[in-house]
Amino acid sequence: MKPLRIAIQKSGRLFEPSVELLRSAGLEFEWYKNSLISPCRNFPMEIYFLRDDDIPEYVQDGIADLGVCGDNIIAEKQVDVTPLQKLGYGKCRLTLAVPNDGPIQTATQLNGKTVATTYPNLTERFLRERGIAASVVTISGSAEISPALGLSDAICDLVSTGSTLKSNGLRPIVDVMSSEAILIGHNGISQLPVVDELLLRIRSVLRAQGHKYVVLNIERSRLERIVQLLPGVKSPTVVPLAEEGWVAVHTVISESDFWERIAQVKQAGAQGIVVMNMEKIIL
Ligand code: PRP
Ligand code: ZN
Repeated sequence: MKPLRIAIQKSGRLFEPSVELLRSAGLEFEWYKNSLISPCRNFPMEIYFLRDDDIPEYVQDGIADLGVCGDNIIAEKQVDVTPLQKLGYGKCRLTLAVPNDGPIQTATQLNGKTVATTYPNLTERFLRERGIAASVVTISGSAEISPALGLSDAICDLVSTGSTLKSNGLRPIVDVMSSEAILIGHNGISQLPVVDELLLRIRSVLRAQGHKYVVLNIERSRLERIVQLLPGVKSPTVVPLAEEGWVAVHTVISESDFWERIAQVKQAGAQGIVVMNMEKIIL
């Protein structure tokens, strides 16, 4: 059987978390600087390291079976691929930015100006919807240097930490869209059992990352309230303590409302609350 081919970014925001996700999903592979393809030792898959902006088209055209890229690129390229799973990392914003020392303060002031970007479709749509008559210059990389080169008055580019803008003397004026990493597949590929297996592994890692394992002690008489507050994956495990009338409750809590839940269970009488990270949750 031909190995599955997954494309990930070769350098940039998505590279490290993508490698980490695949490794957490139990895949063993080497990566050396400038590697283009790495075979997995323990799974029928090859990892392609490519420019993130090219990945959607490679997946659409079947050069790769799967790919990880920002969902902004999918919106920009209008490619025909199957979205399989949002990955929760690589969060960033597509943002209009202008020189710090220039006169432009608002998006409306871009009327009659030029905007350089590698995302012409998203930028043009944003400007059109707001009735701003700016001209969009499409470039193939490093939009951040175009105002300094006199190529444009503004840029529209991805901002994550903001350090690229800062080091180029630019400041954001308005967000065009927000984005995060997504796993995409060539149309029809999700029917393959091997893709199912990979998705099961990836989802079990993502689920574990979004939850904490919690153990606490509670008087048996107050157990009902705790079970209501902490339903867990199915329902909590309850084990008796050596001390008469007390039990330990084992369960998982979602990261999103973690501290609210902890406050509630403390109020309900929980003691000795221990919280642990998990590796995987397989449903
Ligand atoms: C994006 C963008 C900026 C950088 C912004 O690059 O083009 O260069 O991220 O991040 P920061 O706000 O943390 O400085 P990407 O990772 O997509 O790589 P690419 O430009 O090579 O495609
Ligand atoms: Zn990119």
